[in-house]
Amino acid sequence: MLELRAISKTWKPARGASRSLLRDLDLQVAAGETVAVLGPSGSGKSTLLKIMAGLEAPDAGQVWLDGRDISALPPHRRQCGLLFQDFALFPHLTVQDNVAFGLVEQGLPRRLARSQADDLLERFGMQTHALARVWQLSGGEQQRVALARALITAPRILLLDEPFSALDAALRETLRAEFQQRIAQAGMAVVWVTHDEAEARSVGARGLRLVEGALQALW
Ligand SMILES: Nc1ncnc2c1ncn2[C@@H]1O[C@H](COP(=O)(O)OP(=O)(O)OP(=O)(O)O)[C@@H](O)[C@H]1O
Ligand SMILES: [Mg+2]
Repeated sequence: MLELRAISKTWKPARGASRSLLRDLDLQVAAGETVAVLGPSGSGKSTLLKIMAGLEAPDAGQVWLDGRDISALPPHRRQCGLLFQDFALFPHLTVQDNVAFGLVEQGLPRRLARSQADDLLERFGMQTHALARVWQLSGGEQQRVALARALITAPRILLLDEPFSALDAALRETLRAEFQQRIAQAGMAVVWVTHDEAEARSVGARGLRLVEGALQALW
């Protein structure tokens, strides 16, 4: 169970007035559950995910995972997989090494990490691309690699920030179904941010809207 407890965050720009983005916000996401988050541009959706991942600190409140306060843990110790639209793959690495990255970072020997990456790429139907550079792939293939990279460490939490916004409608639909299936098998707490209400309804058993610092239940 992923829990946000009384999270507050104010954005203080270098000039102009500060803005309260998140106000005393609570959220619980059970293992195996996908929650979809909608909300206007600039409402703080990406900030919310960054706080869960440990990439940004809240002004107040805590992040808990399975009954443990993980607020003080750095990102790589939070068992958190990330898939951000602008979280680019490493262009200088092969597809295989992009996917293996999280395991190497955890101290697994490169040979073993690559072999596990190959297994995952095979399951994703991407094994023929293992030694390609990521810039040789299409946008949809790159997002598949990004998902494989996010899943390889078997995270407890998966955070997706508009994963398909750069893709065309047909590919979005195909990948959505494919991602849902892979995510369902992994039993993680999933928070899926999207602008697309149809996508949100199909992925999220629960839908929330972030408005003026609070999460409102949509369904
Ligand atoms: N580190 C930062 N640098 C610049 N602006 C920031 C930063 N952190 C927060 N902000 C501001 O906070 C607000 C919320 O940003 P955030 O990216 O979380 O919104 P969002 O809901 O994800 O928007 P979008 O739907 O456009 O992706 C924006 O107005 C943004 O300018
Ligand atoms: Mg955003």
